[in-house]
Amino acid sequence: MFGEQKVCFSGVQPSGNLTIGNYLGAIKNFAEYSEKYKTFYCVVDEHAITVRQNPADLRRRTYETLALYMACGLDPEKNTLYVQSMVHEHAELAWLLNCFTMFGELSRMTQFKDKSAKHADNINAGLFTYPVLMAADILLFQTDVVPVGIDQKQHVELCRDIANRINQIYPDMFTVPEPMMAKSGKKIMSLAEPTKKMSKSDENANAVVYILDDKDTIIRKFKRAVTDSEAEIRFSEDKPGVSNLMTIYSCFTGKNYDEIEREFAGKGYGDFKLAVGEATADSLAPVQARFAELMADKAALEAQMKRGAEEASYYARRTLSKFQKKLGFVQIR
Ligand code: TRP
Repeated sequence: MFGEQKVCFSGVQPSGNLTIGNYLGAIKNFAEYSEKYKTFYCVVDEHAITVRQNPADLRRRTYETLALYMACGLDPEKNTLYVQSMVHEHAELAWLLNCFTMFGELSRMTQFKDKSAKHADNINAGLFTYPVLMAADILLFQTDVVPVGIDQKQHVELCRDIANRINQIYPDMFTVPEPMMAKSGKKIMSLAEPTKKMSKSDENANAVVYILDDKDTIIRKFKRAVTDSEAEIRFSEDKPGVSNLMTIYSCFTGKNYDEIEREFAGKGYGDFKLAVGEATADSLAPVQARFAELMADKAALEAQMKRGAEEASYYARRTLSKFQKKLGFVQIR
């Protein structure tokens, strides 16, 4: 908490390939949070380098991620939008927190175990301390709530443990954050395996619809979506493919499941899939147009990065120097 207002912080990896799952499940909610909280959304380029990155791609994706978030409705006047590496306090606080985080705790993180299996040739210390940098992101802003997906919940729990441990030694140092799982956000499933979550890193490009896919691609992907052998548009647990398409259609048109069932009564999957594809493409068109506009003006994006970093630094500096003082670092003003 800073002053009266509760703080909401989330980090996003600089990957331009956001999916309609990210959009409907998370980003759309992010915009609403700014009504209630002081919101910080940070493009976490320092986290990204825990696995090897091509520099040109990382640079481009950093711009793209910021632009995409703005195109999806995050207003930079109402949210602090910035890039992690431009606020040096993130890395500095991470070092301090490293000294309050146990080797055993980090060894138990499931994401570390998964990623070190996947990148066996590059199990670097950064991959290991990734959750400490994430804790620094969060604690730097005295954050109250952290909107995350289920895969990041363990990292937020660790952040809470670190904060509580430090607060026992240095009372009132950090606000202890709560993870916030989106309630209204819909879970969008893979088009190829509808019992699996849609993931931007899916190897099968047909399983995933990206926010930036063009209309033909979107329609083609929905055409190939896995359904079932009935020919009935009905929302049901034993029809995961059709139900997922209904969820997507519902999110983009605002129609509820009853209305959708009535609309497609007696019609086949072909018609239904085409309608879902068109609704998706039409809803994404303004986002894509706005994205193109934003990307065409690099100078304006850079100005936003600078302004966002300045805003974030103001809060980050306060927390960092408070902690340095408590630790016994000499402070000369
Ligand atoms: N680790 C998060 C992810 O991969 C990204 C992230 C970095 C983050 N710092 C954060 C999320 C702080 C929430 C809060 O999705």
